Amino acid sequence: MLARLAAFAVLLLALPSVAADYLGPTACRSCHLEAYETWSKGPHARAYSSLTPDERGNAACLACHAPDRARGGSSGVTCETCHGAGQYYAPVYVMRDSELARATGLQVPDAKSCARCHDQNSPSLAPFDAGTKMHAIDHWSAEKKARADAAGKSASHRRQRSSRAAAPREAKHTTSQARAGSSASPVRHPAAALARGQVASAGPQALSGGAAAR
Ligand code: HEC
Ligand code: HEC
Ligand code: HEC
Ligand code: HEC
Repeated sequence: MLARLAAFAVLLLALPSVAADYLGPTACRSCHLEAYETWSKGPHARAYSSLTPDERGNAACLACHAPDRARGGSSGVTCETCHGAGQYYAPVYVMRDSELARATGLQVPDAKSCARCHDQNSPSLAPFDAGTKMHAIDHWSAEKKARADAAGKSASHRRQRSSRAAAPREAKHTTSQARAGSSASPVRHPAAALARGQVASAGPQALSGGAAAR
């Protein structure tokens, strides 16, 4: 009870969002190793490194490729882009209390939240298929399984540490091929949309509060 009140006080102090709210993905890794490993090999981890140095200075691109950066968060589409800035929910006693975690900023988004960035401005020709795409970034099934296994073995605080090397920041991706393939128009989407003045309105809003309130 005291912990809840203390956390609530912290919550009040925490608003509005400031730079210090973001911990960065390695902070989550210490407890969510499986989720981290999957994410770090996936498309979102390289969303910033996919951009050329010029593009990294373009706020219109960062709106989807590094949305937390302007507020002091990490580059790319990270844990905290989708789950909310972690400073107040990451302490383990908060994390274990689902309700409290949500009250202190944790969001567990659903497939609808993807539209924030996967909209008509993204390069994909096919419409966003939530089922397939959710499967492609699944970092929760292994996590849930690991958690269930750990719960079976011990109820004590699971703090996982990996001796494996940190995730490669410059993960191999198709961007260079894509660029090489058509130098006249390296990216079909926002660059073109930008010229038509459409990108500004396409920037993501905070993952709609609906997810947080679940
Ligand atoms: C100190 C360890 C620790 C850290 C650091 C941590 N978590 Fe957690 N997290 C947990 C525990 C423990 C649970 C609850 C597991 C359970 O219910 O059995 C949890 C649960 C979650 C859940 C599921 C919550 C729910 O109620 O459905 C999400 C999502 C999550 N964490 C994301 C994150 C993110 C993102 C970060 C980094 C900003 C992070 N966590 C940092 C330990 C941690
Ligand atoms: C509205 C959100 C949004 C904005 C704004 C945006 N992007 Fe993207 N971008 C995406 C999404 C989503 C993908 C990946 C999904 C896909 O292929 O449709 C992507 C993919 C890319 C890729 C990888 C393409 C590949 O084949 O590997 C590059 C490069 C890229 N964007 C560059 C840019 C540049 C440059 C800008 C700014 C002019 C920009 N993006 C602005 C959402 C956005
Ligand atoms: C592109 C958005 C996105 C990013 C980036 C992301 N997640 Fe998630 N995460 C989700 C979604 C969506 C779910 C819910 C899946 C479901 O259960 O339907 C989820 C589920 C989870 C869960 C399981 C929650 C539960 O119900 O048990 C954990 C833990 C988690 N994420 C941690 C992380 C960590 C740690 C990172 C960074 C290493 C991360 N996520 C990055 C979107 C994201
Ligand atoms: C904050 C913006 C943002 C959000 C929210 C987001 N994505 Fe992405 N996503 C991107 C960007 C940017 C890329 C391109 C990364 C690159 O290659 O540079 C991408 C790439 C992908 C890709 C690989 C390309 C493709 O289209 O197959 C998948 C799969 C994907 N995202 C799934 C999801 C799912 C599922 C969700 C919702 C749970 C989601 N994303 C939410 C920005 C976002």
